[in-house]
Amino acid sequence: MGKLDGRVAVITGGGRGIGAAVARCFAAEGASVLVNDLGAPMEGGGTDAGPAQEVAAEISRAGGKAISDGTDVTDFDAVQRMIQRAVDEFGRLDILVNVAGIIRDGMIFKMEEAQWDAVIDVHLKGTFNTVRHASAYWREHRGGQYRIINFVSGSGLYGSPTQPNYAAAKMGIVGLTFSCANSLNGYGVTSNCIAPIAFTRMTESLQGKATVMDYSPDNPRISAENVVPPVLYLAMEQSDWINGRVIESGNGKIGLFSNPEMTRQIMTDGLWDDDVAITEMETVFREAIHQPNPFAKPKS
Ligand SMILES: NC(=O)c1ccc[n+]([C@@H]2O[C@H](COP(=O)([O-])OP(=O)(O)OC[C@H]3O[C@@H](n4cnc5c(N)ncnc54)[C@H](O)[C@@H]3O)[C@@H](O)[C@H]2O)c1
Repeated sequence: MGKLDGRVAVITGGGRGIGAAVARCFAAEGASVLVNDLGAPMEGGGTDAGPAQEVAAEISRAGGKAISDGTDVTDFDAVQRMIQRAVDEFGRLDILVNVAGIIRDGMIFKMEEAQWDAVIDVHLKGTFNTVRHASAYWREHRGGQYRIINFVSGSGLYGSPTQPNYAAAKMGIVGLTFSCANSLNGYGVTSNCIAPIAFTRMTESLQGKATVMDYSPDNPRISAENVVPPVLYLAMEQSDWINGRVIESGNGKIGLFSNPEMTRQIMTDGLWDDDVAITEMETVFREAIHQPNPFAKPKS
């Protein structure tokens, strides 16, 4: 018996990297999958039907159920047709996994408008588009165990200095996920994020570089497959208790992030005196900020 028998999933960015690993796993566990992928280059701006078709064909050859789809997730109306296609083809929709992504790195002071817009468009608008149309379907078909699983990044959670567009888009997705966790749970939907770490074309430039991770194609710990177990779990019916959370997965680790919470407060009964507020912030807040940030450079 498969862990996802009878369930139907749409996986964006399913033609390569982590999305392809998710699609293969879900199909092997009995899900019917729509493998979406535009076949874009890493910086976006091109199409190739091949990657999605190859993953869907591979799943079919292995005895699973899959169709390929080349929809651009930035296209609101086309995404509506894609969601409808999954329902028409497989009779229902249970799981939406938003993996599609591009990067166009650059320092904030040199970033061009087109770099910003393209990355926000694929990640944040693309995730809005799929969630918007899938949730409308779920609202009309209550009583299921529905799942939204959005891919985010340590780049946003820790603040990668060379990826302001990508970091902003990914943290936008975190906010969208938190909102959906509260608005859609009554319709049977849970919404969670995965922050992955894997050797794919997106990270292959880190191969051989002095990072804390060993980015190499033959390291099983950092393979795309090793990201998938918590994605599988979040897609299963028995994960209905977890909602509005961010899980890091990769390099042999599965970690639960804390959600934002207030750690210190200072209060006044009336109008603040500026000097009192400043003094209290320096004494009360400063001692609370001790988290190591992997991107922070030591002060010279
Ligand atoms: N690899 C990592 O370590 C890492 C780290 C943090 C976050 N992520 C995120 O995980 C996800 C998967 O990354 P990956 O490393 O597998 O990358 P990848 O480049 O191998 O795969 C991304 C896929 O998304 C597709 N895509 C791009 N634009 C699209 C569009 N408009 N519509 C539909 N499909 C589109 C691409 O064609 C590609 O096949 C991304 O969201 C990425 O930002 C990856």
